[in-house]
Amino acid sequence: MRQRTVKNLEEKMANNSSFLIKDPREAKGHWAEIFGNTNPVYLEIGCGKGKFILTRAQRNPDANYIAVEGQENVILRAMEKAEAAGLANLRLFNDFVNDLNDYFEKGELAGVYLNFSDPWPKARHDKRRLTYHKRLENYFQVMDEAGFVEFKTDNEGLFEFTLEEIALLEEKGLKMAEMTRDLHGEDCSYESRLVTTEYEDKFSAAGKNINYVKITK
Ligand SMILES: C[S@@+](CC[C@H](N)C(=O)[O-])C[C@H]1O[C@@H](n2cnc3c(N)ncnc32)[C@H](O)[C@@H]1O
Repeated sequence: MRQRTVKNLEEKMANNSSFLIKDPREAKGHWAEIFGNTNPVYLEIGCGKGKFILTRAQRNPDANYIAVEGQENVILRAMEKAEAAGLANLRLFNDFVNDLNDYFEKGELAGVYLNFSDPWPKARHDKRRLTYHKRLENYFQVMDEAGFVEFKTDNEGLFEFTLEEIALLEEKGLKMAEMTRDLHGEDCSYESRLVTTEYEDKFSAAGKNINYVKITK
């Protein structure tokens, strides 16, 4: 996501930080305390400007949501929206996550959302793709038994790669629970089509099909 530099970024970050977790590694094992309840906790990795996670948090007050985004000038937009919405069930943190064990105890998450993740098209960068099989395994390490990963992308190459990575994990008990190459097509009734992201809106409006897969144990 290419972004223009934001003027007075530091000051704006500070002024919109009510829902920002500044030391997410310190939060490991304490997310229920942070939210003040034991409702399920869902994570979006690479939330961009936050439309998806804010919508989910607004629609589901009995669940908790965490948005993580690596770029400061991008997460600022999500922080501004969170500030305006004042949702008690939403938190954000600013990091390029690698190992989810750094932030969550086993079983602390109920699901992970990956939306329009960076494709890293060069073959030698395959390990950086958020659906690389070792990363998928890592997400399941911190999820409860009913945990899932939902992934949406416009990128055909990244989607094919992801299906291959899931196949590698079949022997470890992971499987595709839902899959479509046209999430917004007439024949599709998956719940995932109801909450869209900024990228999804842009690509759908341009007539691009949206690929989607849900992975469970
Ligand atoms: C192409 S954008 C999509 C944004 C949003 N999910 C959407 O669908 O509109 C991908 C975002 O993921 C972020 N990102 C990529 N890898 C990440 C990581 N490991 N941890 C946190 N954010 C990451 C990037 O900074 C970028 O803003």
